[in-house]
Amino acid sequence: MRNIDRFFCLTLTVCLTAGAAKAQKRTIDQRVDSLLRLMTLEEKVGQLNQYSGKDVTGPVNANNTNQLNDISKGLVGSMLNVRGVKDTRQIQAVALRSRLKIPLLFSMDVIHGYRTVFPIPLAEAASWDMEAIRSSAHIAAKEAAAVGLHWTFAPMVDVGRDPRWGRVMEGAGEDTYLGSMIATARVKGFQGEKLGGTDAVMACAKHFAAYGAAMAGRDYNAVDMSDNMLWQTYLPPFKAAADAGVATFMNSFNTLNGIPATGNSYLQRDILKGKWGYKGFVVSDWGSIGEMVAWGYAANNEDAATKAIIAGSDMDMESKAYIGHLTQLVKDKKVDVKLVDDAVRRILRKKFELGLFEDPYRFSNEAREREVLNDPQHKLIARDVAQRSIVLLKNQNELLPLAKSGKTIAVIGPLAKSKRDLEGNWIPLSDTTRVTSLYEGLQSTDGKNRYLYAKGTDIMGREDAFEEAIATAKKADVVVMALGESWDMSGEAKSRADISLPGRQTELFNAISATGKPIVVVLMAGRPLIFEDIANKAQSVVYAWWLGAEGGNAIANVLFGDYNPSGKLPVTFPRSVGQIPLSYAGYSTGRPVKNPRDIKYKSAYIDLPNTPKYAFGHGLSYTTFKYGNLKISDTKIKKNQVLQVSFDLSNTGKYSGEEVVQLYLQDPIASVARPLKELKDFQKVMLKAGETKTITFKIDSDKLSFYDPQMKWVAEPGNFNIMIGSASDDIRLNSSFELTDK
Ligand code: GLC
Repeated sequence: MRNIDRFFCLTLTVCLTAGAAKAQKRTIDQRVDSLLRLMTLEEKVGQLNQYSGKDVTGPVNANNTNQLNDISKGLVGSMLNVRGVKDTRQIQAVALRSRLKIPLLFSMDVIHGYRTVFPIPLAEAASWDMEAIRSSAHIAAKEAAAVGLHWTFAPMVDVGRDPRWGRVMEGAGEDTYLGSMIATARVKGFQGEKLGGTDAVMACAKHFAAYGAAMAGRDYNAVDMSDNMLWQTYLPPFKAAADAGVATFMNSFNTLNGIPATGNSYLQRDILKGKWGYKGFVVSDWGSIGEMVAWGYAANNEDAATKAIIAGSDMDMESKAYIGHLTQLVKDKKVDVKLVDDAVRRILRKKFELGLFEDPYRFSNEAREREVLNDPQHKLIARDVAQRSIVLLKNQNELLPLAKSGKTIAVIGPLAKSKRDLEGNWIPLSDTTRVTSLYEGLQSTDGKNRYLYAKGTDIMGREDAFEEAIATAKKADVVVMALGESWDMSGEAKSRADISLPGRQTELFNAISATGKPIVVVLMAGRPLIFEDIANKAQSVVYAWWLGAEGGNAIANVLFGDYNPSGKLPVTFPRSVGQIPLSYAGYSTGRPVKNPRDIKYKSAYIDLPNTPKYAFGHGLSYTTFKYGNLKISDTKIKKNQVLQVSFDLSNTGKYSGEEVVQLYLQDPIASVARPLKELKDFQKVMLKAGETKTITFKIDSDKLSFYDPQMKWVAEPGNFNIMIGSASDDIRLNSSFELTDK
């Protein structure tokens, strides 16, 4: 075929495809509009109404309605907390008896796995492994979709810099850039490239916005912050989720500068639906609409419904404000029906995209439910993600990895045999028969060690079995202690004013330490903890978060060296709760501490160093890495140029292993005081023992930009400092360059 013919055919194909896609897109919008024209005002309001099934995840509303009756009348658009092919088919059938047969959306908090429980999101964030995180979300979506669910209330993308806040366990930690990358990976994992597959569900970016900055780390509390902090630090992960195509947003319980998020037009209309042009829909968080009354921002549910719909809250979860008042408010001309129509369009569009009008039962398939929920691959992937999430905080005299045979190992502590705790909080269904405890994981390792066990104490210190634990330790060559929080000490409504080890665990540790036996402490929790004695006295410390069903196997793989730990902290570990909020991206201040011994009239505490116990990005390996041969492509770049930064990374130890190399930048002089350093890129690199690889980062003007006093996103000319390292407090290479404006 001649080139001219080939070009003609290609052009025709492209036009026809684009036309078909446009027609298809127009078709969904047209189908939405034609359905909207048929709907009564009551039916429109019904689409904005969401009820919870029996597994409630919030305070239950007193006047429990006859849900099925409302569903049969087309007065419900979605149900949450209904799962399983049988139940979803049964309730969908009721919805299809309504006049217009509009199918329901079924939703649930599938935060870190449905049947296969993966590590909590904060643990996965510690892997810094976007493919691992994506695959975790993808499997969660496959299993959720197999039980009739269309929509998960995840990823939670709130930046969390206050470990007193229990929900830090649900997010990606303290950093804006890492959080944005993880938000993207999770949205792609849950939704796939395009909605509509029965191995994908709608994702939900939550909680919009700035919920992680709740005052005093207390859940549901107020948030006060500057526009600069909001846009620079807390909004970017939401924007990343929106750019990744997240189907829905969920608003948050907090006020932002005095106005509850669910009634906040600045957030939901000006930013999300306006500046960002977001086309999905916003669901309230549980009863957040009705809670505006308790905030003293709405006089009653009718007032709350008015404020919420005007502010861009499209669907009302559980407060029954919309179903109770919106129809009358429109009839009384207190609310413009256009606002209701816009919300209905956004919701119907998703139902069309999911293919629910073609087949309302397509996600409720018994054969697929059986097959997917029992896929043996899922637990293997969960184990891989779990071991990648473990952070080695300390390893004195290379006590780890442990020998697999010939040793007597005492496993001591309240979490040594625990199963439910390893699942963590926010799981749709606990099944401890599928969980491998730490003790079981160690025992199942194919070696010839002898294992002893003693609980020593319980989490809250009500039990005292110290003597037995000390006697057990004395019989061992090495002690592995499993300490931490219980699974329900982090998560929603689980703020702690004191984040040290609960109960008498520190006492137990000190009693075992006094035997002189070498100790590996495995700490498990949903947040950073404070554990000064352990950090100073234990030979090795491993942070294992809550790793899910495969936690025991993953920890054993790390302790015996079958997997060389590669995790890095996604959140700062303070020395004291008095330092909070504490982040690596702090400021110089006008009186920086240059020498810790000279703090007179400096920005410092008189009773504690400013530095954290463990810094953001910290995590050790069984091998060592050398950074060298830093090269930058230029010492000056213009705004439209890209600076290439390269360096050699060598594995100088005896184990192959992965290193997360981190690129931090500093803008030392700018029109607002900028942080001492900000993470701008990272790579997780596998190196065999003795191997060297050249790593390259690209720095464009977007990585140099920030919001100036006029809230413009600008890259200002001047010097910039480059810091490349293994942690935010372990910088190995430094350089600098100039951004010129011509
Ligand atoms: C809860 C949580 C939210 C969750 C919702 C539904 O209160 O704040 O994250 O998705 O209610 O369970």
